[in-house]
Amino acid sequence: MSYLSQIQNTEQGWSESKAQLLTVGIFQNQELTPLGQTIDEHLAGVISKAVRLDDLTGKQGESRTFYDDEHIVLVMGLGRKEDFDSEAIRKAGGSIAKTALSMKVTSLAVECLCTCSEKLDCQALAEGLVLGSYRFNSHRTGDEDSPDLEDVTVLGGNENCLSKGAIIANGVCLARDLGNHPANVATPTRLAEEAQRVGAKGGMNVTIFDRQEIVEQGMGALAAVAQGSDEPPKFITLEYKGGHEDQKPIALVGKGLTFDSGGISIKPSGKMDEMKFDMCGSAVVLGVMQAVAELKPALNIIGVIPSTENLLGAKAFKPGDILKAYNGKTIEVLNTDAEGRLILADALSYVTKNHDLEYVLDFATLTGAVLVALGHHATGIMGTDEELIRKVKASSARTGEKVWDFPLWEEYCDEVKSKVADVKNLGNERNAGTIAGGAFLKEFVKNDTPWVHFDIAGSAWGEKEKPYGPKAGATGNMIRLVIDLLGI
Ligand code: BES
Ligand code: ZN
Ligand code: ZN
Repeated sequence: MSYLSQIQNTEQGWSESKAQLLTVGIFQNQELTPLGQTIDEHLAGVISKAVRLDDLTGKQGESRTFYDDEHIVLVMGLGRKEDFDSEAIRKAGGSIAKTALSMKVTSLAVECLCTCSEKLDCQALAEGLVLGSYRFNSHRTGDEDSPDLEDVTVLGGNENCLSKGAIIANGVCLARDLGNHPANVATPTRLAEEAQRVGAKGGMNVTIFDRQEIVEQGMGALAAVAQGSDEPPKFITLEYKGGHEDQKPIALVGKGLTFDSGGISIKPSGKMDEMKFDMCGSAVVLGVMQAVAELKPALNIIGVIPSTENLLGAKAFKPGDILKAYNGKTIEVLNTDAEGRLILADALSYVTKNHDLEYVLDFATLTGAVLVALGHHATGIMGTDEELIRKVKASSARTGEKVWDFPLWEEYCDEVKSKVADVKNLGNERNAGTIAGGAFLKEFVKNDTPWVHFDIAGSAWGEKEKPYGPKAGATGNMIRLVIDLLGI
C-alpha cells in the first residue's frame, strides 16, 4: 500500500499551511525555487548560508531541514535545472515522500515544482509522491516503527493533473501489492476477486471461467498447465465500454501465473520463491484497468488474464504432451517450464478470435533470457506492427519506462515449428530464448491484429531502487506507459 493515495491542492499561501513538513526545492546550480527563495528570506537567509557553505548543493535527492515557528522546512535537491523534465519532477516527488516517511511526519505541504504555466507536470509530481510512499507491510504484525504520513497538499498546483497522477500511481501500487503477495495469498481466485472489485468500480463486465469452463471452451493449453495444481485456475476478462459502440476495442492480456515451479521440468530451488512474481503481467492489466475505472476514458478496453499455478503432481502435464489451444493449433510441450506462452496462447487466441481489435498488447514474465539481454533496466518488446511499436517507444520515452525491441524475423519464427505438432513451446536450445517466446505467441494472434508482446521478466521486480521505486519487490512497471499509449 502507499501511505499517500490522494493529493490535495491549495491556492492558499505557505504561511497558512498547517502541515508539519513544508518542502521547497533547490537546483544543482544552487538556485532555490521561487518558494524556496521566499522561505529563505523569511528565515533570514539561513538556507542561502547553507548553500554558500556548500552544505546544500542541489544534487537530486540530497536534502536539508530548517525550521520556522510552525514548520519543518525540507529543501530538496532537484538536480540540474536544464534537465528538470517530468521524470526529474517524478523523482523529486518520490524523494520528498521517502524523506517525509523516514522523518515520521504526519502531514506534508509541497511546493508545486512545475515549470510550465499550465502545471501539467503536476501529474508526474503526484505520481512520484504516491509511488515514493509505497511500502509492502501487509504481512508484518505489530510494526510500531511504521510511519503515519497521511496528508499531502501541493501549494498552487493543477488539481486535475494531480488527481490523474495519483489515480495512475494507485494503479501501479495495486500491481506492486499483487506482485508482492506470496502465492498462497495472490491465488487465481484472489486475482479474480480483484478483477471483480475493479470491474464494479468502473462499470465493467467481468467474466470468470473456472476449470470446467476453461476445458469446455477448448483452452487446452491453459487447462494442461493447471492440471498439476489443486488451486482453482481462472480465465478472467474485464470489458470496459467507455467508447462509441463501433469503436474497435484495445485488448490487454497479462500472464497470471501465480506460482511457477517449472512443473515436471522443475526449476532449481534457489530463488524459486521469486516465482510468486510470475503473475506480474496480470498485475499490469489490473493496475491499468483500475486507473481506467476511475479516469473513465472514451475507449473500449478488454483486459484478459489467464491464471493458474504451474506445479507438479499426479495429474501434471508432461514433456512430450501435445495440446490443442483455443484457436485449434496443436502444441508439442518440450519443457513444462515454458508454461507462460501456453496460457497466453489461449488468451491471445480467445481475445483476437472473438473481437475485432484495434490492437492487442500482452505483458508476461516470460523468459529468464530477457534478464540476460537487458538486466532489470528495461522491458523486452516485439510485435507485428511497426507503427504500434513506434508508438510504444514514444510512450516509453515520455514516461521513462524503458523498452527495447527484438526482431521477429522469419528465421526465428521457424524455430518454434514442431515435427509432430503445429508448434513447440521451445525454440533452439539456449539461443534467442526471448524471441522464441515471442515467435511462439505470434502463432496465436489472429493474423491482422496489430500486436506487441512485453517480456517483463527483468523489469517486473528486482530493479535498482529509484527515488519513486520500491526498495525491493514488484515495480508495477509498464502501467504508466500503457496509460500514456492509450492516450488517457
Ligand atoms: N516464469 C519464467 C520466466 C522467468 C525466469 C522470469 C526467471 C523471471 C526470472 C518462465 O515461465 C520460464 O520458466 N521460462 C523458461 C523458458 C525456457 C524453459 C524456454 C526460462 O526462461 O528458463
Ligand atoms: Zn516457467
Ligand atoms: Zn513462468
